[in-house]
Amino acid sequence: MDPTSDLDGTLTWRTLWAETTRRVQGDRPIARWICETASGADGDEFLDVLEECATERMVAHLDAMVDRYLGGEPLQYVLGRWAFRRLDVLVDTRVLIPRPETELIVDHAVAAIADRPRPWLVADLGTGSGVIGLSIAAERSHDGLEVWLTDVSPDAAHVARANAAGIGRGAAAVRVVEGSWYDALPDHLCGRLDLIVSNPPYIAPGDPEVEDVVHTHEPHLALYAPDDGLGHLRTIVSGAVRWLAPGGAVITEIGRTQGEPVAAAMRDVGLVEVRVLADLAGHPRFVQAKRAAT
Ligand SMILES: C[S@@+](CC[C@H](N)C(=O)[O-])C[C@H]1O[C@@H](n2cnc3c(N)ncnc32)[C@H](O)[C@@H]1O
Repeated sequence: MDPTSDLDGTLTWRTLWAETTRRVQGDRPIARWICETASGADGDEFLDVLEECATERMVAHLDAMVDRYLGGEPLQYVLGRWAFRRLDVLVDTRVLIPRPETELIVDHAVAAIADRPRPWLVADLGTGSGVIGLSIAAERSHDGLEVWLTDVSPDAAHVARANAAGIGRGAAAVRVVEGSWYDALPDHLCGRLDLIVSNPPYIAPGDPEVEDVVHTHEPHLALYAPDDGLGHLRTIVSGAVRWLAPGGAVITEIGRTQGEPVAAAMRDVGLVEVRVLADLAGHPRFVQAKRAAT
């Protein structure tokens, strides 16, 4: 970094923020996120440390983050963390970057089982960083529940475990297990789940709409699925009747064009109350269904 020093030869966070802003082409919010992470002071706390001097180690960390960002890495991986609903989670290249549109699946999922007796048994299949299941655990822990987070990737499971440790009291309700879809779950949950929620990989390999930055940096295991992107969705749907309790709900995130095929697959396996739900922009984004109550 090439900052202008303060009079006493040290660098305050005010100076570093200005210099970082210049290096990231004037994008002050991005500069601030990077400076907050380097300083360890978030939000209003950062404003309190503006006149404090950064240590050499902090400046080196800041420099390294700016270099990575300018080299094209997604900001979320550069920072090593990102916000999802009320959580601030660890994210790195072992897991998908949590997307804002996924936040809504938590509301739909909880609404779908709101009238079921507690404690709820919940499975978040393909949990990645853990954001969906951990949000349910953190926000609904007072309701009484047990949340199983699964992933076939041991790397992702490590990230989910680390993030579970960060949610406080709700973590007591969380179990993280490795394995492919339902194979990861213990047999005693079979036919007892109140909720199956999943944001599985659903992009067709070779889809030209995938941005280069996504294809280059995010794990392909988290993005792509066989059978025109529908392969994993079909696996989740086909096991749902067996793993859900009577009256339990399944909800999956989908690609924009997958509403009809996934809804049809759900009807074919005997699920009821099948609904395609839109995101805030009005695009079909989730499919929800229930196992018949009797
Ligand atoms: C689209 S990412 C979703 C991650 C996280 N739930 C989210 O919404 O940010 C899909 C996740 O499914 C996992 N996955 C891929 N194949 C799987 C399989 N056969 N069984 C279980 N998980 C799988 C990936 O490792 C990845 O973490």
